[in-house]
Amino acid sequence: MTMHPVTLLFADGVSRTAEAAEGQKLLAVAESLGMNLLTDCSNGQCGTCVAKCVSGSVELDEYDSSVLPDDEKEDGGILCCVARVRGPSVIEMPYDASEASGEEAPGQAGTVVEVQKIAEEIVRLLVDVATPVNFLPGQYVRLQPEGLKEPRSYSMANESGATRLVFYVRIVPDGEFSTWLLDEARPGMPIEVSAPRGSFFLRETERPRLLIAGGTGLAPFLAMLRKIANGVQPEVAAAETRLLIGARTGRHLFALEELKDLQARIPNLHIEIAAETDVPDGCAKGYPTDLIGTGRMSPDTQIYLCGPPPMVDAARAASIKAGAKKSEILCERFA
Ligand SMILES: Cc1cc2nc3c(=O)[nH]c(=O)nc-3n(C[C@H](O)[C@H](O)[C@H](O)COP(=O)(O)OP(=O)(O)OC[C@H]3O[C@@H](n4cnc5c(N)ncnc54)[C@H](O)[C@@H]3O)c2cc1C
Ligand code: FES
Repeated sequence: MTMHPVTLLFADGVSRTAEAAEGQKLLAVAESLGMNLLTDCSNGQCGTCVAKCVSGSVELDEYDSSVLPDDEKEDGGILCCVARVRGPSVIEMPYDASEASGEEAPGQAGTVVEVQKIAEEIVRLLVDVATPVNFLPGQYVRLQPEGLKEPRSYSMANESGATRLVFYVRIVPDGEFSTWLLDEARPGMPIEVSAPRGSFFLRETERPRLLIAGGTGLAPFLAMLRKIANGVQPEVAAAETRLLIGARTGRHLFALEELKDLQARIPNLHIEIAAETDVPDGCAKGYPTDLIGTGRMSPDTQIYLCGPPPMVDAARAASIKAGAKKSEILCERFA
């Protein structure tokens, strides 16, 4: 078997080298060094694992080119989760080695409790676990039903500390998890639930917040709003929270009753909704980014964007144009 030296260079100057087999996945090479590189989707769809191949060659399996455009790839950009070693290489990570060290916390066995279609292309999945899942509102877990080769990531919409987890899943055509959910998932079935993950979570500050959701990108915001309604300092709860929701059609909207309830409990919460077609009363026609407005945004506004990559990228650009600081924008890309 042909072996190649692979060096991982971290932002704090730490470098680690391993011998990797030809074609070995980069994540497995890092694991052989006792490191867990940062990932979210693990299948080339979100952009969390972007790094740079500064020397040598790696090959990328299939990925979404909207998260790694061709010009960035030509400059050495790679997605670690789909990268395979094809020669001696040096890979530069945009974060410190300490962020990639350590074992991942163990997950637990879960049981499917309910699978219910609640809107066009949207299914609510309830999963029970034995040990309460404590997480920061906005974080996600990886779910792996029996028979699925790789787990998929889904954000909890429920409150932290519960043993019943609530997920909102958009059904994508021919998707593996989507197909399982539609055709096979039944109450009582086992499903593996990872420990909570992710850096997209509510920062408990007294500054204004702008949350923009596309489709099931609303799920982590439901967990954040529940936290604001139930368990933060009064000054944090009192800060203005603006939630902009986008849906393909009025039939794709979901969780509207829950939102009404949250609005009644959070005095300074403002919700605006846009749908591209089939627009219900009280909603705007178009995209959630159209709702940001042209007025100057306070530069201390904290911005949270979650949904399909094109929506997240458009919302990021529109927020910056409206006066937001780049450092105050948090993104979670669902594919
Ligand atoms: C941090 C994070 C949190 C997330 N949270 C949520 C959430 O709360 N709700 C939610 O709905 N989604 C969420 N997602 C997205 C979710 O993880 C899945 O990516 C999504 O549900 C699709 O999974 P799937 O297995 O059904 O599709 P996949 O099997 O992953 O397929 C995705 C798409 O690629 C296409 N495809 C697959 N294989 C091929 C192939 N060989 N050739 C060509 N095309 C192919 C499929 O047709 C499909 O359109 C999240 C993602 C991340 C990263
Ligand atoms: S973790 Fe690699 S693209 Fe999502």
